[in-house]
Amino acid sequence: MQTSGTEALKRAAAERAAEWIRDGMTVGLGTGSTVRHLLDVIAERRAAGEWAGIVGVPTSADTAERSRRLGIPLATLDERPRIDVTIDGADEVDPALRLIKGLGAALLREKVVASVSRTLVIVADESKVVGRLGTKAPVPVEVDPFAAGVLPDFFRSLGAQPMLRRMDGATVVTDGGHWIFDCRFPDGIDNPEALEAALSNRPGVVENGLFLGMAAAAVIAGEGGVRVLTAGGGGAA
Ligand code: A5P
Repeated sequence: MQTSGTEALKRAAAERAAEWIRDGMTVGLGTGSTVRHLLDVIAERRAAGEWAGIVGVPTSADTAERSRRLGIPLATLDERPRIDVTIDGADEVDPALRLIKGLGAALLREKVVASVSRTLVIVADESKVVGRLGTKAPVPVEVDPFAAGVLPDFFRSLGAQPMLRRMDGATVVTDGGHWIFDCRFPDGIDNPEALEAALSNRPGVVENGLFLGMAAAAVIAGEGGVRVLTAGGGGAA
């Protein structure tokens, strides 16, 4: 359960990240509770007469539906294959801006959109910052259901404890029709690049939640204020 304090931090991060947006831009819209604040900020700025020319590319059905309700113009990736800036949440952020994403089940579309974005900006509250990836969150791995029976042993061979994601007694199905194994690493992840490569090369794995070398900046909101981490290290944008 989020506290209202946490929601205020997410709103603060979203407001700061919105500074990357300029009128006329194609904006990738991430998924999750922090991004919901960003959608509110965009709708408020448009209601105030700004950003009449922006177009959003949503990374999930949930974000698309919320954006439509808020009157944010949307396009598909076919219509807008190049994205100026994407603003998205994360489940973990390490000091090198390596990410774990996908607890909201949107990792596949999020990674596709991030891969064609000139700039990826992450919005998060301080609880998402870790010294070592995998210490708090599992790595979500999206799989074709056909391969679901043979993949758990492979995940275990990589040191993971895999768990098929279920909700309300049913297997979670992604927007793309796939399933997700949440792969927990009890001591964190030694080598995220090697793990990402191993997962990417495995038949039946559709995508994994390690986003490495993709984020240009992370806007982190904590009780002491908002700070901006950049890929080159250090602060402020
Ligand atoms: C969605 O699949 C995830 O990658 C989200 O970006 C992530 O779970 C962050 O969500 P919150 O902002 O709700 O923490």
